[in-house]
Amino acid sequence: MKKLGLAVIGTSWITAAFLSAARECDAYEILAVYSRTLDKGQTFADANNIPKVYTDLDEMLKEDAIDVVYIASPNDMHYPQAKQAMLAGKDVIGEKPLVSTLREMEDLVRTSIVTGKFVVEAITLRHVPNLEIVKKALPRIGALKIIRADMSQFSSRYPALKEGKVTNVFDPHHSGGALYDIGIYPISLVVSLLGEPLNFTYTANLHENGVDLSGIFLLEYPDTKAVCSFTKDSYGPNFAVFEGDQGYLQIDGAPSRIGNVTLVTPQGKEELGVSQVENSMVYEAGVFANLFHTRDQAVYDTLTKHSLILARIMEDGRKHAGVRFVADTR
Ligand SMILES: NC(=O)c1ccc[n+]([C@@H]2O[C@H](COP(=O)([O-])OP(=O)(O)OC[C@H]3O[C@@H](n4cnc5c(N)ncnc54)[C@H](OP(=O)(O)O)[C@@H]3O)[C@@H](O)[C@H]2O)c1
Repeated sequence: MKKLGLAVIGTSWITAAFLSAARECDAYEILAVYSRTLDKGQTFADANNIPKVYTDLDEMLKEDAIDVVYIASPNDMHYPQAKQAMLAGKDVIGEKPLVSTLREMEDLVRTSIVTGKFVVEAITLRHVPNLEIVKKALPRIGALKIIRADMSQFSSRYPALKEGKVTNVFDPHHSGGALYDIGIYPISLVVSLLGEPLNFTYTANLHENGVDLSGIFLLEYPDTKAVCSFTKDSYGPNFAVFEGDQGYLQIDGAPSRIGNVTLVTPQGKEELGVSQVENSMVYEAGVFANLFHTRDQAVYDTLTKHSLILARIMEDGRKHAGVRFVADTR
């Protein structure tokens, strides 16, 4: 299969990790990076073996050989950059969260229809093999009653915030905060398994600038209740547990990669998870490449529906918790 010409936006470690995943899955030809500054772009290109650097996004998007653009800029930039890339005829892989509001997501869906281009949200856990294992194993725990999914990631930038220095991840101008940064993972895990919740609510510890630093998101389904907690301002364990009337399934470690799956029933304990590659972005890079080749509308619609649900409940949830973004006003 012809390799897809790939360009990237963003020069931080996550773009380097995606490039390494793209190389590992062997479906992309890495062509270019966009950076706001030539020096930074060139340093990143040298370190990651990228042939071309652009400091003008329009110029980069004129390049015919580029089929796909991967976006890992601050959260608020994903939507305008994704739209710009699709209008220029490119498929898009947008880092999570793909959008700041439901309105943005709906506009991307419209743009996709008009341009015939795809835009997908890079949420690692959606594509790792162990998610399928969890799905298949769920009937073995009987009626699913409770899900608890926790993701705690004390931020290296939190001490600076306490000193008054606001970095992108804690900046309401950049749609920052705990929910959009890491809360999306446990919530996506729940939505991947149970779909759209009947009700949901979010309560959060807020910083004085209005962003959420940690919080608890409750999702209600007819027979199941799910509580997702996540922190950027404190330490805590990372895990997920699915509790049923015949046993439970446990994931130890970050819900974002589902590194293992254990089934515990009155009959005993069983390790179900398969061994996954270290860089879990390899799976999404492969799935997206396949989608961009096949143009499988059913697969695309499933991914889009998931992103629409996330966009809606995260926007409503954060507004309920009192978190406002500058993106809300544009
Ligand atoms: N999938 C995952 O596991 C994972 C992990 C981490 C992060 N992420 C996501 O990746 C995205 C980037 O996160 P990050 O922590 O790398 O963000 P970041 O360091 O704040 O910014 C990423 C890049 O965007 C550019 N940038 C920085 N500030 C900007 C501004 N004010 N306006 C426009 N561009 C700006 C910079 O590139 P130039 O200076 O070269 O232009 C920078 O390298 C986020 O959406 C985050 O949620 C995903």
